[in-house]
Order: sequence, then C-alpha cells, then structure tokens
Amino acid sequence: MKIERLIVSSRGVSRDTHKGGAYQTAWKKAGALTSHLEGYVCDPFARDCPWGDFTNDINEKFNTTFNIEALPFLKMCKKKMPEGFRIVLMDPPFSDNQSEKYAKECNGDVPNFYAADSSHASKVFKAASDLLMPGGILVKLGYNTTKPAPHLELVHLYVCNLGGMRHDTLISLWRNPNQSLNLEPSRS
Ligand SMILES: C[S@@+](CC[C@H](N)C(=O)[O-])C[C@H]1O[C@@H](n2cnc3c(N)ncnc32)[C@H](O)[C@@H]1O
Repeated sequence: MKIERLIVSSRGVSRDTHKGGAYQTAWKKAGALTSHLEGYVCDPFARDCPWGDFTNDINEKFNTTFNIEALPFLKMCKKKMPEGFRIVLMDPPFSDNQSEKYAKECNGDVPNFYAADSSHASKVFKAASDLLMPGGILVKLGYNTTKPAPHLELVHLYVCNLGGMRHDTLISLWRNPNQSLNLEPSRS
C-alpha cells in the first residue's frame, strides 16, 4: 500500500470534485490499476461528473442515468450487472453538515445521508463493494479510511492538503482481490 500527499487548490472546485486535481489523480490511478480489465464504471453520487457509465444523483437537477437514493441504485446495478464493475466511484457527502447542504439544493426533500439511519452509510459502502469485479477498484473520498467491506484491500491512499487551516481530505483506493482462477479443464 502506498501513501501520497497531494497539495491541491480547492479554488473553483466547490462541490464539483471531479474538477479538482486530487480526484483527477485518483481517477487516473484507478484507471491504471484496472487497465487489464474490461468493464464499466459506476458512480452513485455523480452530480455533473462525466466519468461513470452508470450514474446517479439524488438531485433531479443533474443529468444522471438515475435520480434516486444511492442504496436502491446500487442494488439495481447489482441486478443489471452481475459480472461486476471495473471501478466504483464513492464521492458522497463527507459529513452530516454537507449532507444537509445537498438536501437544501433539493429543497430539503431528500433524506440526510447520515442522519436517516445511523447504519445507512455503511450499508451503501457495503453495497458498492459488492459491485466490484475481481481486481476492480473502489475509489472512496471522505474524512476516513474505514474499510468499505471486509473483503477489500487498501492499495493506495492520497492525503489531500487544501492549504491554510482547511481539513485535509482522504482518497483511498480499495481492490477486490478475489481473482477468478480461469482454469482450463485438464486434457489428460
Ligand atoms: C460531493 S458531491 C459529488 C460530486 C461529484 N462526484 C463530482 O465529482 O463532481 C455529492 C453528491 O451526492 C448527492 N447525494 C447526496 N445524498 C445522496 C444520496 N443519499 N443518494 C444519492 N446521491 C446523494 C448530492 O446531490 C451531491 O450532488
């Protein structure tokens, strides 16, 4: 596992994380780590981010494939794509406070990601982890590096310094190590 510290500017990024250098660096890394795989990218908190093939955001203002809560979206992806995804992007609200701000963008008409049910966020991370194909990478943004699911291994961690007295943020890359053996039947 490798740890890298990135010094990044948050100017002009605001809520569009994909416009910032740190997320772009992590996205390229996830691409490199999965370049041997064929598969799609799932993004349950996409907002305006164009990287996903299967995209979702609870806010109907965003032009994502779906506009529903993350957990039912991930469960639907599992049914539609049982072979799994190459990359799953997890860029949810980082805190209760942030979640309230996103809810206000929808006129408060959506549940707070953290307050709705204390185990909700961990259920969402578990459902996202279950979508990874063997060798697939989950990219997790936030203030912690809690394991998204027991079977995942941490392969890379970016500590992102935003300067001044702002909190650093963390981007962790998690791999599903369950490799299919792909054995050919014995001919002898
Ligand atoms: C940090 S922003 C995502 C930014 C985006 N990934 C990017 O790169 O620009 C988090 C997004 O999650 C959405 N969101 C908040 N709670 C949600 C939920 N429970 N289910 C799905 N989307 C949610 C918000 O509307 C917001 O657009």
